[in-house]
Amino acid sequence: GAPVTVDISALQEGQRLVQEWRGQPIWIVKRSKAILEALPTLDVHLRDPKSDNADQQPGYVKQASPELRSIKPEISVLVGLCTHLGCSPEMKAEIRPEPFDPEWKGGYFCPCHKSRFDMAGRVFQGVPAPTNLVVPPHYYQDDNTIVIG
Ligand code: FES
Repeated sequence: GAPVTVDISALQEGQRLVQEWRGQPIWIVKRSKAILEALPTLDVHLRDPKSDNADQQPGYVKQASPELRSIKPEISVLVGLCTHLGCSPEMKAEIRPEPFDPEWKGGYFCPCHKSRFDMAGRVFQGVPAPTNLVVPPHYYQDDNTIVIG
C-alpha cells in the first residue's frame, strides 16, 4: 500500500485520530503532560518497558524514546490492533483509578481477553497479549503533517 498523509493540526489533547493504512487502523493520539510523566514510572509493571522487541517499532522510534515510543513526545502513532488475537482495544486517555488495576495510568484495554497497554502501547505483565502494540513506520512532513508508511 501507498503511504498516507494525515493532518493533525486539529488534534486536541486526549483525542485520537484513526486513519486506515494497509487495511489496519492507525491511531494518532495526543497525550497529556500528566500521561507523559506517568509513562516512565510504569516499567516494573510492563513486559517490554524499553521496547527491546525490534519487531514492534522502527529503530528510529525506539532511539527517540524507548519509553514514550514516539518521535514527538506528545504524539503517539500506533497500529490499533491487540497483539494477542487482533481485537480493537479501547482507549482510556485519563489517569484515574480502575477497579481491575490500581496501577492504571491510562492506556488501552482490550475487551476480548483483558489485555492492558499503557499510553505508549507497552503491554502490561500477566495479560494474554505477548508484545507491545506496533508502531508503524512514519515521519513528519512538517509540524502538523504525518506520513504513515
Ligand atoms: Fe486482545 Fe485477546 S485479542 S486480549
